[in-house]
Amino acid sequence: MLPKIDFTTTQAFKYLADHFITINESTIKELFAADPERFGKFSVYLGDILLDYSKNRINEETMALLIQLARECQLKDAIEAMFNGEKINETEGRAVLHTALRNQSGNPVLTDGKDVMPEINAVLERMKDFSDRVISGAWKGYTGKEITDVVNIGIGGSDLGPVMVTEALKSYKTRLNMHFVSNVDATQIAETLKDLDPETTLFLIASKTFTTQETMANANSAKEWFLKAGAKEADVAKHFAALSTNESGVSAFGIDTKNMFEFWDWVGGRYSLWSAIGLSICLAVGFDNFKQLLTGAYEADEHFRNTEFEENIPVILALLGIWYNNFFEAESNAILPYDQYLHRFAAYFQQGDMESNGKYIDRNGKRVEYETGPIIWGEPGTNGQHAFYQLIHQGTKLIPCDFIAPAISHNPLGKHHQMLLSNFFAQTEALMNGKSEEEVVAELKKAGKSESEIKELAPFKVFEGNRPTNSFLIKEITPKTLGSLIAIYEHKIFVQGIIWNIFSFDQWGVELGKQLANKILPELENNAPVVSHDSSTNGLINQYKDWR
Ligand code: F6P
Repeated sequence: MLPKIDFTTTQAFKYLADHFITINESTIKELFAADPERFGKFSVYLGDILLDYSKNRINEETMALLIQLARECQLKDAIEAMFNGEKINETEGRAVLHTALRNQSGNPVLTDGKDVMPEINAVLERMKDFSDRVISGAWKGYTGKEITDVVNIGIGGSDLGPVMVTEALKSYKTRLNMHFVSNVDATQIAETLKDLDPETTLFLIASKTFTTQETMANANSAKEWFLKAGAKEADVAKHFAALSTNESGVSAFGIDTKNMFEFWDWVGGRYSLWSAIGLSICLAVGFDNFKQLLTGAYEADEHFRNTEFEENIPVILALLGIWYNNFFEAESNAILPYDQYLHRFAAYFQQGDMESNGKYIDRNGKRVEYETGPIIWGEPGTNGQHAFYQLIHQGTKLIPCDFIAPAISHNPLGKHHQMLLSNFFAQTEALMNGKSEEEVVAELKKAGKSESEIKELAPFKVFEGNRPTNSFLIKEITPKTLGSLIAIYEHKIFVQGIIWNIFSFDQWGVELGKQLANKILPELENNAPVVSHDSSTNGLINQYKDWR
């Protein structure tokens, strides 16, 4: 059982509220000027990953109080409860054991008195065997040809993780071409299938529940397309595999359960890329690289579980997030990778974070009186710089940003990487320092502007600065460092959920829309006008019927 403490009633919270007033008296720039050791004090390594969090609106007292807050909220016990397989997903009565999927300690992990490691390792063995055979060409399609293309059909956690990782690790690509179909909009599957040959295409139907409407619709359309090409029902076994917890659903769909890669109800959808859902990753980059991804995550797990909070990367990130969310009233958090391969990283953690911590009911079943999960968003730099950074620099909203960059590029082309990294370093410096009126005036004078021109232009060119950032500098994006980075963010989300006193591993908030869509679907089958909804919904449905 998790603790059920309202963090706003802790001693630390009260101290932090007072301390917030003090910290607001200094800018980050002033804090740097006052302390030459600041970088050393507020940076930490995990293997080849460096987190510099010194460009935040914090000092040593802030961190000490935030850590006191974590202790008062019994974070240590909560971490142990998760790793030990307790049923901390209380509203669904489930354990939360994605960490077991990457456990490489050789120790058992028990839930309900049963060690889950043997079944995890057995599925991993099958994933290895299957992916090796498909990649090598030993696995043949129904006409005896090798598989060339793999289509993963899934949505949410059964899509975003595999998409993000296969994009991030594209430079480790096998000979297989990967495709991902998630949207129920037929455009996505139609466009994907246009270029594919049924004789050489393998479909992975990825769904924890095997009931998700979008996935089932796409899976059925894929099967129809396959059979239409002249293949027989018996050939489905050579071209369809299922990644699921639902054996009977898989059989009912017509996939041989020999081709089913199993996972378990203690794997949350948005934490499932480490499970059989990662089969597309194995096919995309090879099993050994998938294993490295697990190793990286395992190292982050060990760090999270065993490191003092003062040096604990996920804990530090989470506490900084709480500092901005609950004291500075920041509403969002931008994730800005300076690495094109990480272009789906922010989208992945939109689900990871917002589906986990977008909740207003606390663990006591009461409405919270404080802010919980922030809005997560972001795009790769430098593209973002030419799009939305204006608002981060000079807008009225405070947006704490995480900058992420590799020191070594997989594509060392001319000076590209130096240019990219010069932007990465420059942005956090600019966000912190801003540009004072004196600097602006001096610059305009140098440019030969008149006194009146300077007076007119100067206010627009001043940057207040004092915008907080974290910087992750990673030696290179490899399967291992990527695994660690993902696990760091997962644990950050967990820590925040513990402190906000919410259940991070359910997602009841996505149900209502699904239920209503199911109610509306039959109403769209004929042309009779509908009257059963509010006037807006009736109006939209009836106009649709008229136009279609
Ligand atoms: O609707 C939300 C959700 O349940 C996510 O949590 C999950 O990742 C996604 O749908 C897909 O679910 P499934 O893997 O069961 O198809």
